[in-house]
Amino acid sequence: MSSMIKISPSILSADFSKLGDEVISLEKAGADYIHIDVMDGHFVPNLTIGPEVIKKLRPLTKKTFDVHLMISPVDNFIKDFAEAGADIITFHPEATSNISKTIELIKDKNKKVGISLKPKSNINLIEDYLDKIDLVLIMSVEPGFGGQKFMPEVLEKTKAVRDLINKKNLNIDVEIDGGINFENCAKAKDAGANILVSGSTVFKENNGDLKKNIEILRNN
Ligand code: DX5
Ligand code: ZN
Repeated sequence: MSSMIKISPSILSADFSKLGDEVISLEKAGADYIHIDVMDGHFVPNLTIGPEVIKKLRPLTKKTFDVHLMISPVDNFIKDFAEAGADIITFHPEATSNISKTIELIKDKNKKVGISLKPKSNINLIEDYLDKIDLVLIMSVEPGFGGQKFMPEVLEKTKAVRDLINKKNLNIDVEIDGGINFENCAKAKDAGANILVSGSTVFKENNGDLKKNIEILRNN
């Protein structure tokens, strides 16, 4: 099972004064994806980076850029993030007036499509779109900040999403994002997540030993 599990470290917890070096270090440490949290200060009460930064990071690594758009309205920026080098573009259903249109905008740029559910967002928001997307991102914290406490109540929803995917015989990823640590990573996998996002655990545990922290999350 551990070979199936992917780790997507979030650079929100990285040192923003040297993001390029941090991305290269994550690749060397065995990260499967690079999780890039984009926040606009409107959809969430925080502001991070835009397409220009991703464009500068793109040539530094071949690793998948797992771009989590916490922005609204989201449609206006799909093209920019796609052309900046995003590989997976994940949006929140509440950030668009037409989910199908947003999915099409991402597919038109030949990128993988993710839809993200906030802790209080219900699975019925996405069930009609599962056959059109590549990834469901289950938030286990309220979006906006790294270093928050894991919300175990989302494990139920994670199981429900995984069961629905299996029932529909679809082959899509379930990614869990927020407060993932060495104590809860096994529960997240048991609930059906096959991609774990982690910011603070990867960058802060074991004196910032990225390789060790990624391995512990992947293998426990
Ligand atoms: C929160 C972001 C998460 C966060 C994860 O809005 O979407 O990706 O950076 O960081 P930790 O692992 O520290 O909760
Ligand atoms: Zn995220």
